[in-house]
Amino acid sequence: MLKTINKINIKEIEGMKWFEEELDEVIKNSSKDIYNICKKNILSGGKKIRPALLLSSSLCFGPLVKEAVMAAVSCECIHMASLVHDDIIDLSDTRRNKPTIHIEHGNHVAVLVGDFLFAKAFEVLTKHGLLQSMEILVDAISKMCDGEIVQEKNKFNMYQTKKDYYERSYKKTGVLLAACTQIGAIIGGASNTEIKALKSYGENIGYAYQIIDDILDFTGDEKILGKPIGADLKEGNITLPIIKLIEDQEYKEWIEQIIKKEKSKEMNIEIIKILKEKDILQKTYDEAIYFIDQAKKNLEYIKNSSYKYFLLEITDQIIKRKK
Ligand code: FPP
Ligand code: MG
Repeated sequence: MLKTINKINIKEIEGMKWFEEELDEVIKNSSKDIYNICKKNILSGGKKIRPALLLSSSLCFGPLVKEAVMAAVSCECIHMASLVHDDIIDLSDTRRNKPTIHIEHGNHVAVLVGDFLFAKAFEVLTKHGLLQSMEILVDAISKMCDGEIVQEKNKFNMYQTKKDYYERSYKKTGVLLAACTQIGAIIGGASNTEIKALKSYGENIGYAYQIIDDILDFTGDEKILGKPIGADLKEGNITLPIIKLIEDQEYKEWIEQIIKKEKSKEMNIEIIKILKEKDILQKTYDEAIYFIDQAKKNLEYIKNSSYKYFLLEITDQIIKRKK
């Protein structure tokens, strides 16, 4: 049984080795070029949280089955595809401490590698008769695309509310995590109440995950994160710490001028200093803790097991994560 969060090693979760082998097999079933690009730039270095969540959610209710492993492969392919496309959209140079695919091979190849991963996700679901999982994932992907468009349209828009932020955060991050836990529960044979609880758990850890992502964009270590920090404001993405700063009457005008003039890149150090001085990063962190508490409450509907224990522990890992 896994004991402390430091000792939790996602790789040791039941089914993860099987998942890795199947994922490699799925990607290998392509041209050498595509396989080599995926292998070098995107296949390694990820946290593999989505497959781990899906497998653990299914294991809470039944034995390890191939359907859960293949659904996990499909979710990871969708996640990787979304990152490849996101890096093109965001003009990001590095991901997982490696050059992004579009930097190394150009936009043309990167778009198509993303499409390839996307197609593979559906090949896997079709081959294994995972129709319900497909329905859930199609809905999740539609919301993810919508979330990206909303984000794009609201760049440098300082009149965004916390409600707007949370809607965007759900679509960007929560919806796919919730799809993983929901699909896992369904494949494991959970009751409707249990499926609902695990879906909510996925949504809640999604909110917390995104909030921590926003904080790390100000305070993270680039080497550990594997991607540049300060990217959100540079790109005009108004995240929770900035929404909170805008709410502060003392700094409202100051930060609004910076955003309006698109000067956030030059002012990043000053902004971080004020976010720390005004305790805003801590208050933002407290909101992440609120969602983690909600996620823990969702797990009260699930019977105790070492798999549930992992789901509990991962909530703390999300809060403490540095990458
Ligand atoms: C990273 O956000 C990006 C996402 C969480 C989702 C991106 C979604 C799409 C491109 C649409 C769906 C597309 C497919 C193919 C399924 P971020 O830029 O805030 O984080 P980052 O710093 O890690 O890049
Ligand atoms: Mg990005």
